[in-house]
Parts: sequence; C-alpha cells; structure tokens
Amino acid sequence: MNLFLKCVNGQSIERPPIWFMRQAGRYLAEYRNTRRKAGSFLNLCYNSDLATEVTLQPIEKFGFDAAILFADILLILDALGAKVDFVEGQGPLIEPIRERRDINKISNVGKMHEKLAPVYETVKKLKRQLPTNVPLIGFAGAPWTLATYLINGKGEQGSLTAKKFLIENNEEFEEIISLLTKATIEYLLMQIKSGADVIKIFDSWAGALNADMAIRYSLEPIKKIVSEIKKEYSDIPFIVFPRSVNTIYRKFSDTDCFDVLAIDQFLDRQWVVNEIQPKKIIQGNLDPIFLTQRKDILIQELKKVTEDFKNYPYIFNLGHGITPDAKVENVELVVEFIKKLRL
Ligand code: CP3
Repeated sequence: MNLFLKCVNGQSIERPPIWFMRQAGRYLAEYRNTRRKAGSFLNLCYNSDLATEVTLQPIEKFGFDAAILFADILLILDALGAKVDFVEGQGPLIEPIRERRDINKISNVGKMHEKLAPVYETVKKLKRQLPTNVPLIGFAGAPWTLATYLINGKGEQGSLTAKKFLIENNEEFEEIISLLTKATIEYLLMQIKSGADVIKIFDSWAGALNADMAIRYSLEPIKKIVSEIKKEYSDIPFIVFPRSVNTIYRKFSDTDCFDVLAIDQFLDRQWVVNEIQPKKIIQGNLDPIFLTQRKDILIQELKKVTEDFKNYPYIFNLGHGITPDAKVENVELVVEFIKKLRL
C-alpha cells in the first residue's frame, strides 16, 4: 500500500504524505503553457488529454505523494444546465437562480454524465499514467458551496445572498440542496468507477454559515453523500474540507462517516492537537502565503506546523489552494523538508 493510503487507513508511516491544493495551477510555467494551448480554463477542464497533462506536471516536477484530478467544482453546475463561465481576472460567473422556476434549469441529473464524460476520461487516463505509488484524488464541491455560486452567480464574501435565500425561500433552498446532493453522489460514483482512489469534498464557503445552519446544510448533506457512496464502495477514503468553520470543526471530527478532516490555516493548532487530532486524521494547514516568502521565514513556519502535529499521523498540505504568486523553489523546499521528516 502507498504512503498516502497507509496514513488514511491508520497504519504506521515513516513521514507525513504531502500534496497541495491547486498543485496544478498558475504558479507553474508548465501549467500556463498548457492552459494557453487549451484557450480557456473550461476547455482545459473538458479536454482529457490536456487535463491529464496538467495533473501530472506537479507529480513529475516535485514528487508529491498524491495527484488530484484536474477539473473544477463548478463543472457539475455547467453539466446540470446552469451557464458557467470563467472570466479572466474575475473568477467564475454563473447565471443565478432567483426563483422556483429557475430550478428547472439545473434539474438535468440524467444528462449530466454526457457533459462530464471528458472528466471521467481524464480519470481513466491518469490511472494508466500515474506511478502506482501515487493515488488519484477525485473531488466535488459540497452542496452548500455549489448552491452559493448558483444563487449568487459568483463567489461572495460572507455568502449573504445565498444565506438570505436560505432563510427567505427555505423550501426552494432545500430543493436545490437535495438536487445537488443527488447529482454529486452520481458524479462521484462515476469518478470512482473510472478509477479515483480517494475522494475529497470541498465546502469552501461553509464558514459563512451560522453553527446550526452549518450542521444542517454543510455537514448533513456531506454525510449523506459519503454514506451513500460507502454503501457501494466502503474502501474509498473521503477527505472533507469545511473551510473556515472554526469551532464547528469539532462537530465534523465527531462523525465516523468520513476519514480525513482538512483544516484551514486560521485554526489554533494547539486546539487542533487537543480537540481534533485524537479523533480524526487531519490534512493541512500551512498558510499558502508562506510560499511567497523568503526561505528562512518559510522554514521557520514549516518547523512550527510539523512540530505541532507530530504526535499523530497527518497529511501535510496547505490551509487553502496555492496562489499564483507562490515561488516554485519554495514548493521544492517544502517537499524536500517533508520527505526528510521522521514521525
Ligand atoms: O486542486 C487542484 O489542483 C485540482 C483542480 C481544482 C481547481 N479548482 C482548478 C482551478 C480544484 C479541486 C478546484 C476546486 C475549486 N474551484 C474550489 C474549492 C477549493 C477552493 O479554492 O476553495 C472552488 C471554490 C472553485 C471555484 C473556482 N475555480 C474559483 C473561485 C476560481 C477562480 C479563482 C482563481 O484562482 O482564479 C476557479 C478557477 C480555477 N480552478 C483555477 C484552477 C487551476 C485557475 C484558473 C486559471 O487557470 O486561470
């Protein structure tokens, strides 16, 4: 068994496995070249040869211990019938849902596989090309995060538009969550059938929800997705990332439903050591800003993170995706540092 899966399965490991969120991204010249060839970000996601190529780039260049499928959490909305566009310098834009009849626009669960076929093809190609000791992580956005983009039409700090919709149009909101939950189960099952070894669920905007809302609309739909899939594939490990949920992380660590809890860079690590690590394998949480900094500053921070988390097995990663201004030599340094570490 490879290091990553050993860690997730609770077996003893010599050092933490390492991979980075957005490890295939704009900080890499190789990525920028392939992205140019593709013409647009969506073309890159839907071109299985090019998506395979960019997924492999950071594996070959840095020797990460896991690969993550190159795609985007918003593709499923595109496949369901919402109009999704990635505008240069602005991020994703989506035709928003504002009333009940708009929901019909995204009800096409039956047809979504047709549109997502290139993603499944990418998974199959990667399985053939990845070294056998590097598992492939498939992924999806959690229903709440997908709903925020769908309702607001773009990312929004605090997700106020989606939160108001949740309160003012609760019946429609619940309908959207349940539709997205169902579609996500089908999407992830197809990724697993195509060869994904591990699944990660991103709830990037979970931190905008109040505590009781976070349980009901972040944790509950995620539990439903994981438990439905585990009925068919009990061995597939799940990583869950409810970003910025603060002390609600404790509630996420209380469930046996999934295997690894990914944590952001804002949590107090001592609190994590006391409250979370005894109950769950964690993944995280270097602040990506340190990858833009001087070597000595980066090393100082690396020492802190690895010293704090060393008493339990964990997966080394960032607290959020790597940024375009990260230095390539810093990524090299972190991988070397972690590979020399002994638990
Ligand atoms: O992690 C990986 O390397 C796998 C691929 C991946 C991407 N996006 C590629 C991407 C994954 C897993 C995602 C997840 C994703 N997408 C999330 C959840 C994680 C998070 O960041 O919180 C979210 C919220 C999105 C939606 C999204 N996609 C936004 C907001 C943006 C624009 C912001 C930006 O960085 O430009 C994207 C675009 C995107 N997705 C890029 C990449 C590499 C940059 C696109 C480019 O090449 O211009």
